[in-house]
Amino acid sequence: MAKEKQIFFCRECGFESAKWMGQCPGCRSWNTFCEEKVTVGARKQSGGRTAVVPTSILEVKTADETRFSTGLEELNRVLGGGIVNGSLVLVGGDPGIGKSTILLQMCRNLSADGHKILYVSGEESLSQIKMRAERIGTFQKNMLLLCVNNLEDVEEYVKKDRPKVIVIDSIQTIVVEDIASAPGSVSQVKEVTARLMQMAKQMDIAIFIVGHVTKEGTVAGPRNLEHMVDTVLYFEGDRNAGFRILRAVKNRFGSTNEIGVFEMLETGLSEVNNPSKVMLAGRPLQTSGSVVVCSLEGTRPILLEIQALVCQTSFNLPRRTTVGLDYNRVNLLLAVLEKRAGMVLSGSDAYVNIAGGMRLDDPAADLGIVFALVSSFRNRPLDESMVVFGEVGLSGEVRGVSAAEQRVREAVKMGFRTCIMPKTNAEHLKSIEGIKVVGVSNISQALEYI
Ligand code: TYD
Ligand code: MG
Repeated sequence: MAKEKQIFFCRECGFESAKWMGQCPGCRSWNTFCEEKVTVGARKQSGGRTAVVPTSILEVKTADETRFSTGLEELNRVLGGGIVNGSLVLVGGDPGIGKSTILLQMCRNLSADGHKILYVSGEESLSQIKMRAERIGTFQKNMLLLCVNNLEDVEEYVKKDRPKVIVIDSIQTIVVEDIASAPGSVSQVKEVTARLMQMAKQMDIAIFIVGHVTKEGTVAGPRNLEHMVDTVLYFEGDRNAGFRILRAVKNRFGSTNEIGVFEMLETGLSEVNNPSKVMLAGRPLQTSGSVVVCSLEGTRPILLEIQALVCQTSFNLPRRTTVGLDYNRVNLLLAVLEKRAGMVLSGSDAYVNIAGGMRLDDPAADLGIVFALVSSFRNRPLDESMVVFGEVGLSGEVRGVSAAEQRVREAVKMGFRTCIMPKTNAEHLKSIEGIKVVGVSNISQALEYI
């Protein structure tokens, strides 16, 4: 017998509880519990089951061509080389960032390659999708649209006619009928995802799910789903700025370090093949506190500008602010400069920013941060044809980083003439034409170049 029950779920992490709680024991966030009705079905009789037999790993056959291209180089890269058959991909991001647009563009390319695509929208009507599609380009007739709100309809169709790829836009608008709670609630979102996962694996269909990330509110964010799906992509960037970055947060079939860079235009998203050029556009010349670093995003070197502003504080406790960088990392480097380079920074505010709206987590940026801080502190502009990278340790040593050669080559490509880098890397580097490589082993040596 099926019966209805009230259950409380944490909106952040999906923790389940029979009673309301102020703080979630799962993720420690406050005031995130919401009440939902769920129907608990009677357990199925075990009589009808057939015996399962495990398969030896040697007998499992892998298909030769398991990946296929999306037609968008940047998206392929983030997916780890293309779409894997039977995978479930979650595309998350703020509303209006371009999730529907990128997936529609992907569908257009796939349908042009002759694949049958099903685009399920619970948000827009057929004519609204068509209107958007017309801005993007021309479509083939094997791109099928379905405007429904329940999963049963989708399952029904898929049983009759198997598409190659399905896009669900968005998970928050699709419901399973036998669950009583509202669309977008934790139990609905989890159940729909679980059923889609089953569909993907059993029928070997690649499924893309769109999920809005909500800061607050009644709608369950896709964070609940991250552990259920194969791949999680986040689309980020300032909605007002044109540039969008697609990042893999989890990927069962590839690396999670890769990023894809796009620009939102009148005609949809266009791929940015040379992000360094974009990130350095509009760089101020002959100004103190600005330095170019070469960071590595996955396998791809990107040149970024770090800006620092160090000025006399008017508070007892100096202010430190970072944008796009780890706050603690900057504090640590300020302490290293104070102790190892004898600079008195305790009376100065420090603001550090990555130009262009990127986030930088690569430790190789350390030396760049140090250069920017010192340049601003001494009010001395740096050589604008210079690029720096290297990790800085607590005793002021400059440590080697990975892929030094790739970074230097990117700098040469963008016309830089000097590169200050860790000595250990410089020693192993083959000479590269067009750039002067300077190896430094600690920050006092490095600061001679300011
Ligand atoms: P959309 O893909 O609808 O966002 P999401 O599905 O993530 O909510 O993108 C909407 C934004 O993109 C909207 O502000 C308009 C803009 N846009 C363009 O600038 N050019 C275009 O060609 C398209 C289709 C959208
Ligand atoms: Mg949308």
